[in-house]
Amino acid sequence: MKLVKLIANLGYGSRKDVAAMFREGLVTDAAGEVLYADDKVPFDTIRIDGEPLDPPAGMALMLHKPVGYTCSTKDPGRVIYELLPPRFRLRSPLLSSVGRLDRDTSGLLLMTDDGTLLHRIVSPKAKLAKVYEATLAHDLRGDEGEVFASGTLMLESETTPLAPAQLHVADPRHAALTLTEGRYHQVRRMFAAVGNHVDTLHRSRIGGLELGDLPAGQWRLLDDADLQRLFGATQST
Ligand code: URA
Repeated sequence: MKLVKLIANLGYGSRKDVAAMFREGLVTDAAGEVLYADDKVPFDTIRIDGEPLDPPAGMALMLHKPVGYTCSTKDPGRVIYELLPPRFRLRSPLLSSVGRLDRDTSGLLLMTDDGTLLHRIVSPKAKLAKVYEATLAHDLRGDEGEVFASGTLMLESETTPLAPAQLHVADPRHAALTLTEGRYHQVRRMFAAVGNHVDTLHRSRIGGLELGDLPAGQWRLLDDADLQRLFGATQST
């Protein structure tokens, strides 16, 4: 791919803007030598204003989504892209979230511009376990674990029962629920189906990948080891 297109696709500006950056000598190699639009150089040697380029297409990241942000590019309220460098919103291919978390749910959100990777993660066949930690408005009554694990729970307006899910109760108002599917507002609707209400919801793990101590609102790129962890453990622990 031509350098102008490659850099424009990373969100640095239109092709016209990037061509102007070349003319102004802002695009250099690692030694500071000015590059020209027709040059052919390895990606990681390119600098703009002395700074290395953002990651190339095929990037994946984890974001600690705070409560109050929507997984959308456009929304009247706050959107997850505000938590990333502004250029990331302008990339082509688009950097999108892997599935969604509700505005009022916090925790581990994956984002990628790699359609194959995205499909691998969300594919029902992958059955990646997702762990949600819920704070409940009412004490658990005791039979919820059995109901959720039954594989027969039917949510309102659905036509197929939910796959078995595992509930780990920490105390009567706190529990972790492990799901292998992702239906609309699933956790909240599951607790509503057993007469409860979710006050707070936080996703802490997808597959074998943990959010860890990444602070709310922060993100980091995923490396190969993260992706191995993601797909390495598909079952709940
Ligand atoms: N289940 C929900 O109810 N909300 C989420 O954001 C994710 C799973």
